[in-house]
Amino acid sequence: MTTSTPAVAPRVLSGIQPTADSYHLGNYLGALKQWIELQENYDAFYFIPDMHAITVEQNPQELHDRTISGCAQLLAAGIDPEKSTLFIQSHVPAHAELSWVLTCLTGFGEASRMTQFKDKSSRQGAEHTGAGLFAYPMLMAADILLYHPQFVPVGEDQRQHLELTRTLAERFNNRYGETFVVPEGFIPKGAAKIYDLQNPTAKMSKSGDNPRGLINLLDPPKVSAKRIRAAVTDTDTVIAFDRENKPGVSNLLVIQSELTGIAIEDLVASYEGKGYGHLKVDTAEALEAFTTPLRAKYEEYMADRGQLEAILQRGAERANEIAAATVHEVYEKIGFVVPSTMR
Ligand code: TYM
Repeated sequence: MTTSTPAVAPRVLSGIQPTADSYHLGNYLGALKQWIELQENYDAFYFIPDMHAITVEQNPQELHDRTISGCAQLLAAGIDPEKSTLFIQSHVPAHAELSWVLTCLTGFGEASRMTQFKDKSSRQGAEHTGAGLFAYPMLMAADILLYHPQFVPVGEDQRQHLELTRTLAERFNNRYGETFVVPEGFIPKGAAKIYDLQNPTAKMSKSGDNPRGLINLLDPPKVSAKRIRAAVTDTDTVIAFDRENKPGVSNLLVIQSELTGIAIEDLVASYEGKGYGHLKVDTAEALEAFTTPLRAKYEEYMADRGQLEAILQRGAERANEIAAATVHEVYEKIGFVVPSTMR
């Protein structure tokens, strides 16, 4: 029997949906930045969950283009295909296969309690909510458990999905014998939740109410600078880190600190006696310094489709090898008659 036990280097795995033309600053600071650091010391698996994307209706051409663009953005931001396995979820059939097994292990009530499902379905109404949205967390659990990662670097909003993943791993292990690593979240302290610039108590999101609340990585620096200048702050003038009373100012401090590596307290000290205008200008500059090379590299990757496809093919091959072995092991354990072609 082939084995799917973890490789020598501990693994990490994460994914980011291709549901917008550009990833946003929340995606980068909450997740991608950690992905790039972790690939140095871990056997890293990063993928584009196109199968998750279709849990809400997608325009096929747009989904196609955004999937390719998403890969190019990950590479441009610093995912190194020599260090990380980069792939597209639908290139690895094991995700759908394990997802079904895990769905059968999940309680209806358990899945109904997922806040992302509750939020989205209440916004869209039951009539417009597909069963795919309900099954979404079990597909995510499959994504993770297939590869036996120790850590899953994500933002705060994925915490509940990770908890379900851990529960399902334990449930499977208890019922059928030790199979899955029970993974842990790798959620950054400062940037776990980047907030909307216009509504700094809501998370920055592609589906936020006001596009001006969002910073897209691929937007021209001028557009982002304008949005930062217009960011909601407060009527006070003192620059201080205070999430409760100064959510807008605190959000800008976190963004700038994460982009520059300067500690928040040092930033605050440097702004003594200065106004919000300074904070905004500096934050916009830090962003521009980060996105300008990123955008240039992105254009290079997009101009060389052959290279992108080769990276994705290599990624899919490596991912398939590991994921198929896990499904094989699972199928045997749950009593499926495994066909000779899978052995
Ligand atoms: P997605 O595509 O919505 O977001 C990708 C990553 O970005 C993080 N994120 C944020 N972090 C901080 N502040 C924000 N405002 C912010 N907005 C988004 C998310 O936490 C996430 O880490 N279900 C996942 C995709 C997925 C996945 C997986 C992740 C599918 N399968 C397996 C990990 C492992 C999602 O929708 O993320």
